[in-house]
Amino acid sequence: MSSNEEFIQKVLRSRKYRDLHLPAETIRDLIEQESQRFRDEKSMQESVRQKLHQLTALYLGDPDYDKALEELELMQDERELQDFANRMLSAHTSTRERLPYLTDFYNALFQRIGTPQSILDLACGLNPFALPKMGLDQNITYLAYDIHQPRVNLLNAFFRRAGFEAARAEQRDILVSPPTQKADTAFFFKEAHRMDQRRKGSNRILWDALPVTTLLVSLPKRDIGKTHDLSERMRHLVQDALQGRTWPVEEIIFEDEIVFCIRKGAG
Ligand SMILES: C[S@@+](CC[C@H](N)C(=O)[O-])C[C@H]1O[C@@H](n2cnc3c(N)ncnc32)[C@H](O)[C@@H]1O
Repeated sequence: MSSNEEFIQKVLRSRKYRDLHLPAETIRDLIEQESQRFRDEKSMQESVRQKLHQLTALYLGDPDYDKALEELELMQDERELQDFANRMLSAHTSTRERLPYLTDFYNALFQRIGTPQSILDLACGLNPFALPKMGLDQNITYLAYDIHQPRVNLLNAFFRRAGFEAARAEQRDILVSPPTQKADTAFFFKEAHRMDQRRKGSNRILWDALPVTTLLVSLPKRDIGKTHDLSERMRHLVQDALQGRTWPVEEIIFEDEIVFCIRKGAG
């Protein structure tokens, strides 16, 4: 086994990451990229670990996945299921922030872009637990992607239990293998700034590749401590990613995030 493959196995089996069952291709991709920046192996590996720490963002919170799966099996009615979904949404910072205005959030988005029949939820985290609150058809085609396997498993169990027949979650590194499935819209919430830290310029490549009519990219309005206004920095990130593109962009501003509504289909 090469020293890179040994390193990949070591990271995947480490206490910090072993329960996530991350795709090896994510670490392989980071190694390939960081090898171009660092000549010595130790610095390269350190940088890979830092990037992985950022992109997994475990500090944003998690439910107990095994316990949640067991609970889901015992759910009897819709009300219990909705309470469960709310608890899952409040386990992670991004979805917890949205929870007080969740229905208004999706109403505002779909008023602007029309009601989609198919959605890709990229780097979805726990956001698909909001699906029952989106006001969409029960048969909506909803494809959610994340690198975190326990999240993916729990989401699939939830979709089945809640009767969303055409919804499914898949483990996929969306940067290494962008989804090829066509859809009306893609959500890319609260992750583009981390993606840019992982690899400068990567948003442009991803957004270009997505076969969707409308791309909804959200970015945080404030830092995690809520002391700094990040709006201008985030607007620049979007402008950079869209340089030379003629796709119309509108902003929808919420308390904690700005949604950039990018109409690829119209450009
Ligand atoms: C900050 S959370 C955002 C969650 C969700 N989009 C939201 O706003 O509620 C970031 C999520 O992206 C996932 N992620 C990070 N990089 C990814 C990649 N390259 N491909 C797929 N998922 C990724 C992480 O595992 C994590 O669940």
